[in-house]
This record gives sequence, structure tokens and C-alpha cells, in this order.
Amino acid sequence: MIHRLPVLFFLLISNLAIAQWDDTDRLSKAFHAGRRDALREKMPPKSMAVFFSNPIRNRANDVDYQYSQDPNFYYLTGYLEPNSMLLVFKEEQLLSDQKVQEVLFVQENNPRREVWTGKRLGVEGAAKLHGIRLVYSNNDFKYFNFPESLEKIYADLPDQPNKDKAEKCDLATLVQQFGEKKSSSKKVQEDSKLKEMMAQLREIKQPEEMTLMRKAIDITIIGFREMIKAVRPGMTEYQAQAINEYHFKKNGSEYPGYPSICGAGNNSCVLHYIYNRKPLNDSDIFLVDMGAEYHGYTADITRTIPVNGRFNEQQRIIYQLVYDAQEAGFDSCITGNPFISVDEGAKKVIADGLLKLGIIQNVADARKYFMHGTSHYLGLDVHDAGTFTELKPGTVLTVEPGIYIPEGSDCDKKWWKIGVRIEDDVLITTDGHEILSRSLPRTITDLEKLMQEPSYFEDLNVNQR
Ligand code: GLY
Ligand code: MN
Repeated sequence: MIHRLPVLFFLLISNLAIAQWDDTDRLSKAFHAGRRDALREKMPPKSMAVFFSNPIRNRANDVDYQYSQDPNFYYLTGYLEPNSMLLVFKEEQLLSDQKVQEVLFVQENNPRREVWTGKRLGVEGAAKLHGIRLVYSNNDFKYFNFPESLEKIYADLPDQPNKDKAEKCDLATLVQQFGEKKSSSKKVQEDSKLKEMMAQLREIKQPEEMTLMRKAIDITIIGFREMIKAVRPGMTEYQAQAINEYHFKKNGSEYPGYPSICGAGNNSCVLHYIYNRKPLNDSDIFLVDMGAEYHGYTADITRTIPVNGRFNEQQRIIYQLVYDAQEAGFDSCITGNPFISVDEGAKKVIADGLLKLGIIQNVADARKYFMHGTSHYLGLDVHDAGTFTELKPGTVLTVEPGIYIPEGSDCDKKWWKIGVRIEDDVLITTDGHEILSRSLPRTITDLEKLMQEPSYFEDLNVNQR
């Protein structure tokens, strides 16, 4: 089944620096091995699942975007580098005289490139660090033959990887070689089944994942508290963003889990407003939707505050309506309830409220002002993988109703330029739920109180343009 496949990781490569493992609180080898076993349990007999690392994305010229691993690949291996692939077999296979159930192909060491981008794990390092018994150089995939006994191959293929001529073997080559081997082996492929299997796994967070999720959420709360205390008329949206992101980074988050949304005044009505350049005016409402990512797991929290520290009458009414809708959403966060029930509960409160206020004349029009779903799964992706069936213990989801009334809307203009979203992260438990972000003030009273607290950014004068 394998020809000329050198088992490189038995060679001793001296001077192995594992720079990426300065953190001591990463997911363990046992976690990743357990996830591969859990996937195997879902796979049918005589099948193989194939995963690829994320492509490197070019920003411009010779500068790439910061690399981020594919979530499924990370979940199953913990390996953070590009140009790699993982094969998971249902049954044990005899490869290089070893009985194994999985093989990892990784990029080789490349001293010329490592001068620029840092030490790579290489074959030996990847085997040692990730506890996968059989690791090969990606350059050897061309010699690899799929086991004869296989009847099904599932593949999670990356989007259009770019060619990288400076690599001996890049992701594009791996994908191409995989395609050729797969078509010559004539095995059936059912990609959506693999997505489904991974969604079932990722929907239920394991204890190690919850530790990282709680950390991401706690860091985000630190940032939000300081940002809320520091907000003043005259600051800009990006300065408020900077205060939050400073605390993310300071507390060990690698980066935000998605582009920060910081919209004041009419910008609060743009669901994914990420331009963040406007000055904050005294009478503006300010919607901030941000999440720190920690070792792959992201938080996702939204708070909406009045720039001058006091909600005006209309802002107060709309805020309270969204708050009540969120409470109704929380009430549905119970094991066994359909995922959609959270949305239904929140939507009903908002439709009834808008009707009562005369902002809409019939219930169906509520979607003009609340045009997104109330919940999504949260985890390695901000909009994480999940089955959208019933809620289960271990599921983490957001509850984030909103009302957005941009300038020019078909209602009394006193409501214009008010966008309110309140978003919290919720863990479904066996007997109810836990609001993981509950320590961040959320009521009108608590938010106004927090805005009165002194901010150390005041002294530093950094909240001035
Ligand atoms: N926080 C961005 C979103 O949920 O879409
Ligand atoms: Mn969200």
C-alpha cells in the first residue's frame, strides 16, 4: 500500500525549537486524540475522512494575512501550520510497519523560509507535539496509496489554495494529488456527511474547550468594562475599539475572533459595521459587538450604551424592549428545546413591543427592524458549527436580539438612528443554562452606573482625538 515512504520522524533533528508552544494552557494531545476517536465512531465501516489545513491568504504583493488554522483541522490535530493534511481511518491500517488509525502530512523544515517566518515543527516536531504516531512530510503524499479496503472517502476540501512555488509541496499540490488519487480509486464521496459529523462533534463543547471559551469571554468582559467606563463624547469609534482590543491583547488573546463592530448613531443600525471611523456625538447611542479569541475559541458579546452616559427617552424604551426580548430568549435556553425556539421567543417580544409603540402596524413588519436570527453557535468559529436541531447540554450559543431603526425609516423620526443589540454567550446545561458573560452589566441602571466609574484612560488622555 505504501512505496518508498521514509519514516522521517525517527530521524533525530537536533535543535528543535517549538516556538509556537510558549503557551502552557493549550488543548491537550488527549483532547485531539479523543476528538479523532469520536469522529471515527460516527464514520461508517471502511471509510476515511480527509482534512486540510487552511490556505495562506494573500493581502497584497508579498504580504499575507495573519495565518489562522482551519477549525476542523485544529480541532482534530492542534497543528497550527499550513500545507498539511490529515487522514482519519475508521479501521486500523498497516502503514510503514505500524498499525495506525490516522496519518498526518506536514510541511518540512525549510531553513530559508524559517529565517523569515520562524521555526517550523517539521515532521519530527509535529509527531512529538501532537502525539500522532505516524507523521510524514507532505512531500511524500505523492507516494501514498489509499488502503485497498476503503469503500468511502470523505473530504473537507479547502477553498482555492494559491500556488506557493517556494514550497517543495504546498496545499494546492496536496489537494491536486488528493483529487487524482481519489478519482483513480473510484470511491464514493459524501462531503455533506462529513460536515454533519463535524457539526455534531463541535456543537457539544468538551471540558477543555469550555476552559478556553470561559477565558475568551472573561477577557472580553475586561475589555468591555474598561471601554464602557472610558467612552466620552468626542472620542471616535476606533478609540473605543482600541481600548477593548488593548485589554484583549494584554490578557493573552491572540486577536479578535471577528472584525470589531463599533457603530455610533446611525452606524449602530448597520449590523456588521466595521469601518469604525466616526466621532462619538453626545446624543448618539453606541453599539459595540466584539469578542476576544483565545487559543482558537472566540467570545461574542454586544453592549449598547449612550455616549453621554444617560439613555434618552426613546433609547431607553428601545433598549428595554431588546432587553426583554433577550430575557425571553434566555427562557428558551433549555435542553430539548428546538434551537429556533430561542429566536421565536425573542421575536415575539419585539414584534409585540414595536406594535404597541406604533413603530410597526402589523406583526410581519417587525422583520424590518429585527432582520437577523437571535442565536448562533459559538466556539472555534464565531458562527460555529452545529446541527440546528434541539439544544443539548454542552452547547454554547449567543442570545442577541436587536432593533435597528436607521434614519429615513417608515416611522416617527424620534426613533431614527437608534440601533440596539444586546448579546450574551450561553452554555446549555442539563438543568437549564448558564449565561457565561453574565458579569458584564446589561441593565440600563447597571450600564449607566458603570459609565460613571472613573477610567484610567481619562488620566492618560488617550480618549482625546
Ligand atoms: N458578532 C457578529 C455576529 O454575530 O454576526
Ligand atoms: Mn453574534
